[in-house]
Amino acid sequence: MSSLFEKTFPYGSLLESTTVIRNYASEHKGLGVIACVAVVFGLGPTLRKRFFAWFNNRVTKMKNEEYEALKRGAFADLATQKSSDPEFQKANGLRILEIGVGSGTNFSFYPDGSHLTVVDPNPYFADYYYENKKKFPNIKAETVIVSYGEDMDMVESNSVDAVVVTLVLCSVKDIAKVISQIKRVLVPGGRFYFIEHIQEWDRSSHGYRWILQHILTWFKIWPFLFEGCNLNRNPLPFIQSVGFSDVQYERLYAPMPAKVFMIASPHLKGIATK
Ligand SMILES: C[S@@+](CC[C@H](N)C(=O)[O-])C[C@H]1O[C@@H](n2cnc3c(N)ncnc32)[C@H](O)[C@@H]1O
Repeated sequence: MSSLFEKTFPYGSLLESTTVIRNYASEHKGLGVIACVAVVFGLGPTLRKRFFAWFNNRVTKMKNEEYEALKRGAFADLATQKSSDPEFQKANGLRILEIGVGSGTNFSFYPDGSHLTVVDPNPYFADYYYENKKKFPNIKAETVIVSYGEDMDMVESNSVDAVVVTLVLCSVKDIAKVISQIKRVLVPGGRFYFIEHIQEWDRSSHGYRWILQHILTWFKIWPFLFEGCNLNRNPLPFIQSVGFSDVQYERLYAPMPAKVFMIASPHLKGIATK
């Protein structure tokens, strides 16, 4: 861990202060997270991107078994889906595009023999991504594109069997554009798998959460701390209106790794078929 950390923060005093915070964070998860993100205010845009990559990788490792179970359920159909390409069918693999891949948290859900193309605009995730990828030699991931989900013209139309997006649509600049790109690149019958945190839907039971989500987002506090993440979005209408032949979805409260993240517990998961 320390070598990865030092690679991300090769700056003397910054390293010392963030090391203190890192140690504190491992002992007091919730408070440590708050202390950690407080540092972000002192960083410029590039360092913030680096910090976010490091921070996100840490939080991802904190996610518990229940969250993994949620993902397993959401991605179960990947194992039974058949590629439209005869070569991939023979190998029981799929051509998968993952948008906003970050440090690569979904490899374990992909069928052996699959070919993965990934897109992410933040190049500072690369070290974490390649480190994780080493554990999954069964997945071929030759194409890594540093770009936005809105600008994926380099990915051919009707060329992938599945598109996977987890915790990304909260941050994109134009949800409608990303969703229409997803539909464009999927083969007919291809599937879009999504897991996203969304705006609180039950205001009578969780009104305080709805209010906090809006305040933190309107005043740009959460987006500033978490690289453009908005707490008050609902991508479902965009997914339902782009022309998929079928959209299956479920709203649920996801288990979070620390209390401070309960604000992002309302989740949407589902599969849209082209
Ligand atoms: C919270 S992280 C989630 C990473 C990973 N999908 C996961 O579930 O662990 C959000 C990711 O979305 C990426 N992202 C932000 N804006 C994006 C955009 N417009 N297009 C594609 N990816 C984007 C970020 O760089 C980051 O990797």
